[in-house]
Formats: sequence, C-alpha cells, structure tokens
Amino acid sequence: MYITPSVMSLLLVVTILACAFDRATCLKFSYPTFKEADENHFIKEKSYIVLNALQVTADVSGAPISNLSGRIFYKDPFKLWKKKGVTASFNSTFVLKITPQTVPGGEGLAFLITGKTGLPDNSDGRWLGIVNSSTDGDSQNQVVAIEFDSRKSYAEDGDDNHVGLDVNGIFSIKQEPLANYGVNLSAAINITARVEYDGKNISLFVPLSNETGDNMKNPVISYTIDLSEYLPQDVYLGFSASTSNYTELNCIRSWFFEGSKLDEDPKLLWVWISVPTVLVLCALIYLLYRIRTGKKGLVEDTYPTIEDQIKGSSTAPRKFWFKDLKKATGNFKNKLGQGGFGTVYKGCIMDKEVAVKRVSQDSRQGKQEFLAEITTIGSLHHRNLVKLIGWCYERRELLLVYEYMPNSSLDKYIYCHEKLIASGPTLNWQRRYNIISGVAKALDYLHNGCEKRVLHRDIKASNIMLDLEFNARLGDFGLARTIQQTEQTHHSTKEIAGTWGYMAPESFLTGRATVETDIYAFGVLMLQVFCGRKPGDQNEETSIVSWVWELHRRVRILSAADSRMSGEFGDREMEDMLVLGLACCHPNPYCRPSMRIVLQVMTGEVAPPIVPLERPAFIWPSMPPSFREDLDCSNAEGQITLITELCGR
Ligand SMILES: *[C@@H]1O[C@H](CO)[C@@H](O)[C@H](O)[C@H]1NC(C)=O
Ligand SMILES: *[C@@H]1O[C@H](CO)[C@@H](O)[C@H](O)[C@H]1NC(C)=O
Ligand SMILES: *[C@@H]1O[C@H](CO)[C@@H](O)[C@H](O)[C@H]1NC(C)=O
Repeated sequence: MYITPSVMSLLLVVTILACAFDRATCLKFSYPTFKEADENHFIKEKSYIVLNALQVTADVSGAPISNLSGRIFYKDPFKLWKKKGVTASFNSTFVLKITPQTVPGGEGLAFLITGKTGLPDNSDGRWLGIVNSSTDGDSQNQVVAIEFDSRKSYAEDGDDNHVGLDVNGIFSIKQEPLANYGVNLSAAINITARVEYDGKNISLFVPLSNETGDNMKNPVISYTIDLSEYLPQDVYLGFSASTSNYTELNCIRSWFFEGSKLDEDPKLLWVWISVPTVLVLCALIYLLYRIRTGKKGLVEDTYPTIEDQIKGSSTAPRKFWFKDLKKATGNFKNKLGQGGFGTVYKGCIMDKEVAVKRVSQDSRQGKQEFLAEITTIGSLHHRNLVKLIGWCYERRELLLVYEYMPNSSLDKYIYCHEKLIASGPTLNWQRRYNIISGVAKALDYLHNGCEKRVLHRDIKASNIMLDLEFNARLGDFGLARTIQQTEQTHHSTKEIAGTWGYMAPESFLTGRATVETDIYAFGVLMLQVFCGRKPGDQNEETSIVSWVWELHRRVRILSAADSRMSGEFGDREMEDMLVLGLACCHPNPYCRPSMRIVLQVMTGEVAPPIVPLERPAFIWPSMPPSFREDLDCSNAEGQITLITELCGR
C-alpha cells in the first residue's frame, strides 16, 4: 500500500503515544557476553570489562594486591515504583564466576539494586562493596543486595559458601547455605543465578548443581518484601564485590535483565488502555477510508499549499478542471507516449493542440515531481523549452498541460531503422546542428541565465521535443530541481537519478546531480545526434563515448559521423562537433566545458577544446587541471560547480 506523508505522520503520532502509554517493558537488556565496545553501557567504579566479562574487582593474578572493592551498573535506571506499595517486577539472570586467587579466596560478590551508584570508601573486605563500617545498616544507603558470599568473615555470617538477602547493610535478613544445592561458589566455574521480583516477593534461583541452567524451579531464597519501602523510584542495577587479604576474581560472564510493567492506579488504567485504542481505531478508520476512496495516491489536503506555491510565480500556468481535461483528451484516448512517471495524451483545448501528461499514481514521487515541474517550468521562458500551459490537481490526479509538439521527440529520428527513415522526415546536418544548438541554448539558460540555477538532470533524446520547424524544445522537468545560487543547502542526495548511458562516471560515486553531470549528458546527446547511434550503456565496449574516443585516438573521428548525412557537412565542422561532444564527456568533470563555451564553439567564436587522443582514465576524486599536469583540458574554464548541491530530495 502506498503510504503518504500524512498517513506516516499519523502513524508516527499513534506509535509515539502508544509507546508513551504502554509501559509494558520499562527496561530490558541482554548481554550474552561483554565486549570492550560495551564499555559505555555501564557505570563502573573500580571495575572493568576484560576478556568478555565484567570484572567487578580487578584480576590480581597472584600479585600481592588485596582489599579491593568495586561496583558496576547498567547505565540506565529502572523505574521501580511510582506510588508506594505498587512496584514493578523484574527478572535478572546472570552467570557469575568466582576464581580464588589465594587459598582460600575471599570475599564475595553481590547483585545490587540501589539508588546510589557510588562505591563506598573502605567497602573492601567483608563489606562486599555494598557499605562500609560506618554506614552499615543505615537506611540512607538505599541498597538491596543478593550476596554470593565465599567467606565467613564475622560471627553472624553463614558459612564460606552461602547466599543472602541484604537490605542497607551486609547483615542478611535471609540467608541460605549453598552446600545443600550442590553449588560451590569458589569452584572457578560458571554459575547461573536468577533474581526474580514479582512486585511483592523476591526470589533467588540457582541450579541444583554446578551445572548451569537446569532445575531452577525452586527458589533458594524467597522473601516477601516491599522494595518501595527501601529503594527510591529510580534504581540502578548492577554488581559489587570485594576482596580482603584473601582474594579472588569476581566476574559476571553474561547478564539478561527484563523489568516490567508498573501497575498503575486502576482508576487511571482505563486511560492507558482506551486512549491508544481510540487512536489506533482512528488510524484504522482513516486508512480504510483512504483505501476505499483514494486508491493509492496523493492527498488532497496538500492542495492549498501547492496552489499557493504556483500562484506565487508571476507568469503562472493556468489551472484546469479535471473534467475539462478529460473532455479535451477524449477520455485520455490518444496516447502520445509514456514517460518516467506518467503517460502523455494528445488533447485539444479551444482549438489549440496540447499534450496532457497524466502523472501516474504509481509514481511514488509523483507529488514531488509535480511540484517541481510547475514551480520550475512555470517561471521559465525560453524558446527552446517546452512551455507549460496549465495544470490540474484534482481527485488525486495530477495533470500537466503542455504545448503540443507535432514532431514528437528526437529519439524517434536518430536511431530508427533505415526503412522507417525512408518513409518519414529525416534529420539532415542543418537540422541536427540546430537541434544541438537549441538544446545548448536551453541548457545555458537553465544553468546560467535564469534567476535560480536549474539542473535538468535527465537530458536524453526522448526528452528533446521537436516543434514544427524541428527546433529543439527541452522538456520533462520532472527531475529538475532548482538550486539557489546564493544560499546553498548542504544536504546531499544519494539517489541516483537519470538515465543509463547519459550518466557521468562521477554520479555513480556521488549520486549527485551537478551542472557537470548535465553537461556530460549533453555531450552524449551530441555524439548521438551526429553519429546516429544509441548512447549504449555504461559498459565500456558499447558506450558511444568510448566508441567515438577510440576513433579519435586512431585519428579517424570523422568516420563516426552518421552516414545518412554524407556530403551535407564540411569535414572541419563535423570534426569540431564530435570533439566538442567528447570534451563534454571528459571523465574529469573539471575538464568539461561550460554551456557558454559550448555555444561559443558552435558559433565559431572560439576554437573547440583540445581533447587528448587517449581517453583519460576516470580518477576520483577529480582535481582541477592545475593540480594534475598530465591532464590536458586547456580550453575548459577550470571553474567548477561541484560543490553546488541539489536542494530537494
Ligand atoms: C587489608 O585489610 C585488613 C583488614 O582491615 C588489614 O588487616 C590488612 O592490613 C589490609 N591489607 C592491606 C595490604 O592493606
Ligand atoms: C520473570 O520470569 C518468570 C518466569 O520465567 C515469568 O513468569 C515472569 O513473567 C517474568 N517477569 C518479567 C518481568 O519478565
Ligand atoms: C514467593 O515466590 C516464590 C517463587 O515463585 C514462591 O515459591 C513463594 O511461595 C512466594 N512467597 C510468597 C510469600 O508469596
């Protein structure tokens, strides 16, 4: 389905609102392993990410470094509660590994939930990085911990292999030896543990043996506690650990956390449920409406803006009604051609023949193209440009009315089969010369002559229309964009637009249209017209540019000329035209002549540029000739507009 910007923005608003209301998952993260690149996901206090693990206390590997403590937290806080007594629930599953570095090791590791991430001073030894001797038991600590204690360090402490639930201190309000579960904390192996809180009840699960994972059904510790009594609304989750004269490496190898829904006040609950529901319903109804009425298409609501834009230009094209254009074209019967984003029909308005382009509704950028055509062409006036007479924007239909070109487009003449040529009018040398000169004048006007610089972006034979006298009229500004020469907007377009065979080599790298890419396409067109050949594709072998250049290298460039014109031109004239065409197709954009120069060469005011016999290799980034002595592009102006970028898109 085609989604227009307004539907997109509606969906976006709905999504944002839905996210804001839906608090189903408040915090979730998953670290199957830890990488040094994850460093800034954590708040670290004397702790490290080394060898795919969180080292909560440093690895001392036998060095006489003792009495360490450290903490590490996930960087984002978790919203634990909003209203006292109503807390969120969470699951935290982690794999810990304690490797004794003395015999025995000490002291232990803890999973922490706290409002304060800072590491207390002197929290080494028995304090496990949780508190210190002066703060132990203080409710200001705002810390709840599940300890994994590997040493009995004071009288009330359990054995040297136990777990416990600690609140604001190291005294465990609930503890449990692990021997019964077959788990040995100091065995230097991975031990999986899960801490679960359902909003009322905190539970710790460990496996029934040192093997990870299995049998985590019955909790080792389960304790009913209202965490909102002890902890602030926003808490940090992490680990602390310590060593004493007895040391060990305290590591976390992986960690999954999922914190969930804060059950809201039941009175408010309906708001959380109904508001997004209503919004989603509205969006659905709107979408259904759009599908029923609009097919896929363009939204009428932007209509006034477009009209305003068009009215803004002084010599504005006329506005037509759809029913009038339908009548004028005999219900779109007489098809003249098919363009990139629409079909062109012949019509008749007040005894005047017109060409009506109906922008296809499949054309995704239809509206953009439409706007570009009206605003650019509407304000341009040149005898070598197709004149836009009017437009229509109605019933999600975009239509453009042009003056009718009785001789159709250039491509119909330059490379059709001999038989067809015999029957129809042909292009003699003079006509071809006039056509190229007309296109050059139109391009010079677009590039240098009008108020805003305009790039055509899609110069090719089928976009050159021919009037009754076979004068060239440049048409199809669908891809044209204006460039404010004063105020350059620096957003680049990565979209390659144009037609294969006419595209300058650098445009595949930059994806950008410039004056020089227009000139390249013009050069291809010029070679085409004088050689009577298709432009070929990018393929080196078949491209017209390499074909002509090869003849130029063999000093046989005249043999490239279309044999159908034999005897109509002077060798000198023809050679100048072909060389000029090659110069426009120079692989280095800096070496291409401007349209001004092209016109001067055509009128004989200046000599044609000197084109090296060997086709220069395409080098990127290109340099102006002064930087590279081996380049011979003496006749080019040397100034370049490569920095000029496109607005729009
Ligand atoms: C480590 O702390 C213990 C207990 O406070 C103390 O006896 C010992 O001297 C400390 N060791 C070092 C190296 O500071
Ligand atoms: C925590 O895990 C338990 C059991 O695996 C599950 O029932 C519960 O929904 C989980 N809670 C959260 C907040 O993920
Ligand atoms: C707490 O949760 C555990 C595990 O789900 C359960 O076995 C225990 O009975 C619960 N305790 C209370 C007091 O709800």
